[in-house]
Amino acid sequence: MRKEAPPPSASTATANKLYIFFETKPLVATLLALTLVFLIWNLPPYYQNLLSTTRPCSAPTTTTTTITTVTSLNNSTVITASVGNVSYSVAEQKLSKPPEPKPPAVVVDPNKRVFRSYGNVAALFVQMGAYRGGPRTFAVVGLASKPIHVFGRPWYKCEWISNNGSSTRAKAYKMLPDWGYGRVYTVVVVNCTFAENPNSDNTGGKLMINAYYGENPRKFEKFTALEEAPGVYNESKYQPPYQYECLYCGSSLYGNLSASRMREWMAYHAWFFGPSSHFVFHDAGGVSPEVRAVLEPWIRAGRATLQDIRAQAEFDGYYYNQFLVVNDCLHRYRHAANWTFFFDVDEYIYLPPGNTLESVLHEFSDYTQFTIEQNPMSSMLCLNDSTQNYPRQWGFEKLLFKESRKGIRRDRKYAIQASKAYATGVHMSENVIGKTLHKTETKIRYYHYHSSITVHEELCREFLPESAKNNVTWYKKLPYVYDDNMKKLVNTIKEFERQTIGDVHVYEHS
Ligand SMILES: *[C@@H]1O[C@H](CO)[C@@H](O)[C@H](O)[C@H]1NC(C)=O
Ligand SMILES: *[C@@H]1O[C@H](CO)[C@@H](O)[C@H](O)[C@H]1NC(C)=O
Ligand SMILES: *[C@@H]1O[C@H](CO)[C@@H](O)[C@H](O)[C@H]1NC(C)=O
Ligand SMILES: *[C@@H]1O[C@H](CO)[C@@H](O)[C@H](O)[C@H]1NC(C)=O
Ligand SMILES: *[C@@H]1O[C@H](CO)[C@@H](O)[C@H](O)[C@H]1NC(C)=O
Ligand SMILES: *[C@@H]1O[C@H](CO)[C@@H](O)[C@H](O)[C@H]1NC(C)=O
Ligand SMILES: *[C@@H]1O[C@H](CO)[C@@H](O)[C@H](O)[C@H]1NC(C)=O
Ligand SMILES: *[C@@H]1O[C@H](CO)[C@@H](O)[C@H](O)[C@H]1NC(C)=O
Ligand SMILES: *[C@@H]1O[C@H](CO)[C@@H](O)[C@H](O)[C@H]1NC(C)=O
Ligand SMILES: *[C@@H]1O[C@H](CO)[C@@H](O)[C@H](O)[C@H]1NC(C)=O
Repeated sequence: MRKEAPPPSASTATANKLYIFFETKPLVATLLALTLVFLIWNLPPYYQNLLSTTRPCSAPTTTTTTITTVTSLNNSTVITASVGNVSYSVAEQKLSKPPEPKPPAVVVDPNKRVFRSYGNVAALFVQMGAYRGGPRTFAVVGLASKPIHVFGRPWYKCEWISNNGSSTRAKAYKMLPDWGYGRVYTVVVVNCTFAENPNSDNTGGKLMINAYYGENPRKFEKFTALEEAPGVYNESKYQPPYQYECLYCGSSLYGNLSASRMREWMAYHAWFFGPSSHFVFHDAGGVSPEVRAVLEPWIRAGRATLQDIRAQAEFDGYYYNQFLVVNDCLHRYRHAANWTFFFDVDEYIYLPPGNTLESVLHEFSDYTQFTIEQNPMSSMLCLNDSTQNYPRQWGFEKLLFKESRKGIRRDRKYAIQASKAYATGVHMSENVIGKTLHKTETKIRYYHYHSSITVHEELCREFLPESAKNNVTWYKKLPYVYDDNMKKLVNTIKEFERQTIGDVHVYEHS
């Protein structure tokens, strides 16, 4: 059966019936009846079909629609209606005296304009995650209508309702980590910090948020952000030692990603970060069956997690809501690792000779955050070398030309000690406690194969002569130098992959 709205005539008829019924009642009763009509109007299609008596086949014969009388008990008014065996009631409470009858509509000032709104465009708050961040602190990560934050002053309140019946309030403050980048929606991180652990007796409870539309403290929405079951709170989860040394928080994966490049990235970083690490990916539509197939062995081995965030497409934020995703990941895994890394799947972290990951992280441990400089690599230049079988090689095995301009500002990537961060961005976090280190280029860098991740055909598309190995080559007005540091690692990585997950077959669209 089709499930669609009844023809307008049916609903209008219902409305007329109501008018006739209530014509002698006070205005309030009429308004209430209208509310009821509205309610019925908004019934799910199934009930709308029941209401539509003009389509006999769609309504069981036993269905009746009745509006019962207005009952006046101790000055409250109740109207009930039933459709089939479902009943609705609308009550207007404690009416101390009937309101003055309003003048008829015709005498209303003809110059007084009415503003009618239809539909809602952006929600006041869209929650993605809410996490305990320590014994007395929580973070709620979500989206909110951007204009409301640009032109208004929405604010938040936090309350813990314990299963033992008590309730505690907390100060809330909000951070807008994508300030300026949002679109219809902007990212909001609400920090709720209580004076002490609101669940210290471990009876469990829930974190409630009041989200206010603006300064008016009476206009707000209340929702349960998080529930903690009895006995679940364990203080040791929020202090070191943490499960991992390093965690990777990937931003939204979208577009037509190459399964081969993903396979190479994953193998390289699983090797680079070592066994005490974990990788979190977010699928915003970029994880095709082929890409999933190359991640699957790592997921099965417990090395990676893939989150399906495709529902984010409903909410228009900056580039597949990547600021939302990194903040969710930050708080979800705040106490999972000593260091949390934020970079992309066309970027490869690299340690210049003389460094180990352990030595570098140890050296940086007084800093909450460090940023990483990039080596920008060409995604199409290869050496004209007939001894190489390029189609069989990995991306970082054959893309060996680095763009060598000095002194220009380039994007950086970063790592943080997440337990000291409150919110984060894509290139660094501006909401951390403690110091940030930028002078890291001799200790740690990253190779950036810009946009190579969506190339499905052969990457080597331009060939430079052998002499380019020892000289600066200008290509499209940019200088390139040869850099085979990554190529030198490729055999180690291939062997590591084989030993860790076995032989890999990549199925790629051609
Ligand atoms: C109902 O309202 C009338 C008029 O305001 C008042 O006199 C009467 O006491 C009220 N009755 C009850 C039950 O509250
Ligand atoms: C009015 O009636 C309602 C419903 O019968 C009842 O719950 C309420 O206590 C009454 N209020 C007063 C003031 O009597
Ligand atoms: C009436 O209610 C009962 C139980 O709530 C339900 O099983 C039945 O389908 C309903 N009948 C109609 C016609 O809605
Ligand atoms: C309820 O739990 C809170 C925190 O866990 C505690 O401070 C409070 O005393 C408890 N209240 C009761 C009535 O047990
Ligand atoms: C709390 O977590 C720690 C570490 O995960 C574990 O060793 C301990 O048994 C847990 N305590 C309780 C009461 O569950
Ligand atoms: C994290 O850092 C602490 C303190 O520096 C260190 O003792 C520990 O081994 C590191 N690794 C993990 C997995 O906690
Ligand atoms: C590559 O080198 C060979 C000979 O070494 C030459 O014939 C060929 O034209 C070169 N190709 C390109 C694209 O430079
Ligand atoms: C909330 O902010 C306070 C500082 O104001 C900080 O100590 C706490 O760690 C933050 N909590 C979260 C979950 O980010
Ligand atoms: C390097 O390039 C410059 C100019 O492009 C050229 O004059 C020089 O001979 C080249 N040197 C080598 C070793 O190829
Ligand atoms: C992705 O790219 C491949 C190769 O260019 C193509 O065959 C495939 O249809 C593309 N998939 C989508 C969803 O665009």
